[in-house]
Amino acid sequence: MKALVLAGGTGSRLRPITHTAAKQLVPVANKPVLFYGLESLVAAGVDEIGIVVGDTAEEIRAAVGDGSRFGARVTYLRQERPLGLAHAVLIARDWLGDDDFVMYLGDNFIVGGITELVADFRAHRPDARILLTKVPDPRMFGVAELGPDGGVRGLQEKPAAPRSDLALVGVYLFTPAVHEAVRAIEPSDRGELEITDALQWLLDRRLTVQATTITGYWKDTGNVLDMLEVNRSVLETLDGAVEGDVDADSELIGRVRVESGAQVVRSRIVGPAVIGAGSVVRDSCIGPSTSVAENCVIEGSEVEFSIVLGGSRIDRAGRIEGSLIGRTVHVTGAPRAPRAHRLVLGDHSRVHITT
Ligand code: G1P
Repeated sequence: MKALVLAGGTGSRLRPITHTAAKQLVPVANKPVLFYGLESLVAAGVDEIGIVVGDTAEEIRAAVGDGSRFGARVTYLRQERPLGLAHAVLIARDWLGDDDFVMYLGDNFIVGGITELVADFRAHRPDARILLTKVPDPRMFGVAELGPDGGVRGLQEKPAAPRSDLALVGVYLFTPAVHEAVRAIEPSDRGELEITDALQWLLDRRLTVQATTITGYWKDTGNVLDMLEVNRSVLETLDGAVEGDVDADSELIGRVRVESGAQVVRSRIVGPAVIGAGSVVRDSCIGPSTSVAENCVIEGSEVEFSIVLGGSRIDRAGRIEGSLIGRTVHVTGAPRAPRAHRLVLGDHSRVHITT
């Protein structure tokens, strides 16, 4: 069995974070969301992985390499334009050969992995197997309608009037039967070859599409609160460890990871929290539920329930909470008059100011 991991696409929903970085590399607890997917594939015994890349190919390649650090063999498959998930299967046809495969969308996060699911698929080999989860707004997803017996009755891509609240999760298991389907379907209204339509094509021909409903799912819907929540839940599973320096005037409470080369000076860190490699935290309070990425400087500030990405600086900024701060951002407090906010914000930024 092989895996086809999709790491193209533009990531418009997580802007401005994804203006400058691939959405699959957005970190959760200081690790790119894509890495959790690769790890769960390898854990499920699938180590031959084709990664479909687009405009952000170089960045993905630089992060993942040949896959050996995950125990996988990675092949890169170039998709010239983002023409849909079923199009990715089309272009991967030769590489996939006649193997069964897992298709895994690199911006999806599945709590608890996919080991059981893959084992079950191998044991029963339905033509396709999909994962579903209940979501508050199904209009942003593929949506499944189930019959009274739990069988899949119909599927629709981003319907205006969803027939259920069961969204398609970005992990699909296929036998080679899917290849005929992706060749047969037509582009959708958004101009993409939809995998949802390929699955519906299989259903129309009475092939078996089985569904499993899961909980514990996240994707980049652009909802920052959801992202902070997934970050929090992954931090909860981390073991504390101090690889950097923590001075005698600092206090670490609960599960705190201080990565190598990080310095904590006269500060209090409440776990779960992670301070990234090479970052400096001075005269500050961090946590709980906070990830500070690599090479940040936080001075004279409080940061709680937040994600701070690499190379950012937060200086005498007072208290920051529920925030997602991008790469190489500077947030600086200005105690002098006039009491005015001075902002340099990228396109699509969102700021809540306490007045
Ligand atoms: C894609 C699929 C959709 C699925 C979603 C899961 O949406 O088209 O059916 O529910 O992934 O991540 P997209 O991310 O392309 O909007």
